[in-house]
Amino acid sequence: MKNSYSNIFTFDKKTLKKAVNILIKRNVVGLPTETVYGLGGNAYSEISVRKIFQLKGRPKTNPLIIHYYSFNDVLKDVCINKYFIKLYKRFCPGPITFILKKKNNSRINPISLARLKTVAVRFPKHRVIRAVLKNINFPLAMPSANKSKKVSPVNATDVFEEFQKRIPLIIDGGTAKVGIESTVLDLTSYPKILRPGRIYKNLIEKTLKLKIKDNKQKRIFRSPGMLKKHYYPGIPVLINQKKHDGKSAFIYLGKEYENKKNFFSLSKNKNLDIAASNLYKILRLIKRKGYKKIQISKIPNTGSGIAINDRIERASN
Ligand code: TXA
Ligand code: MG
Repeated sequence: MKNSYSNIFTFDKKTLKKAVNILIKRNVVGLPTETVYGLGGNAYSEISVRKIFQLKGRPKTNPLIIHYYSFNDVLKDVCINKYFIKLYKRFCPGPITFILKKKNNSRINPISLARLKTVAVRFPKHRVIRAVLKNINFPLAMPSANKSKKVSPVNATDVFEEFQKRIPLIIDGGTAKVGIESTVLDLTSYPKILRPGRIYKNLIEKTLKLKIKDNKQKRIFRSPGMLKKHYYPGIPVLINQKKHDGKSAFIYLGKEYENKKNFFSLSKNKNLDIAASNLYKILRLIKRKGYKKIQISKIPNTGSGIAINDRIERASN
């Protein structure tokens, strides 16, 4: 069924068929995942992959995440290891991405990998993307469905806001539950977190029974092509703010300023997972309301708070 936006379709058998046909024809589709909406294309096709980079305005040096349906599908493209097996069993499908070594005979298009010898693989959980992956015989190269440097979309209408009708189809799968991008974990040697997310350090450490490194301090483990200025909502963002300046949008945790104009709570009971899931939604809302500046109060740097701080620090750059 079509809704009022001419290229946003609700999910049903007919829409699934349409999406699969578009992907087979090497075009791209806007797809919901549990983290954020993605712009998916055939990872084995140079035409598809080039379209993704072009639509996003993404630097060629920034590799894409390759999305698979299951464990068995990934074996032909990457070399797995013991860390991967443990984490896959515990968290997949789910909001985590693993960097692994590419197999020599892998068919993944080298442009999608920025010509690296490693591959970022992910097994998304949302039922719509799972249905699509199950019905095609290639993996999907799929970055977040936003222009390069901008805030990731969490609704079908956010994707429309980014690309309008320059993509043939956007599937509406509701608001993305996790609300921020997957955790990116490098497993090519001793595990390290390249991008924090909902599956945070402690959870990974408990599963692997070891201490892992993160990029909190000096960002020495930054992903290739990852930009310092990123997640930019289009207006200035100030972090660690104590006092409202009287006119900016003020983002905080709790219910201290409930129903007060200009104040936006990420989570009324200060739950950091919920706060992370609301971050992009609120940034887009504030932009739409026409505010000129955003102030954000200090966010605790634990659990999902680490991911929130990573995104807002870069939004504020
Ligand atoms: O939740 C997500 O991961 C979403 C949904 C759509 O799946 N996708 C996503 O993709 O966030 P993107 O392209 O916006 O972010 C991919 C990140 C980038 O920071 C990129 O540098 C990193 O993954 N990356 C990709 N391949 C890599 C590699 N071989 N080595 C290190 N980092 C890599
Ligand atoms: Mg992105």
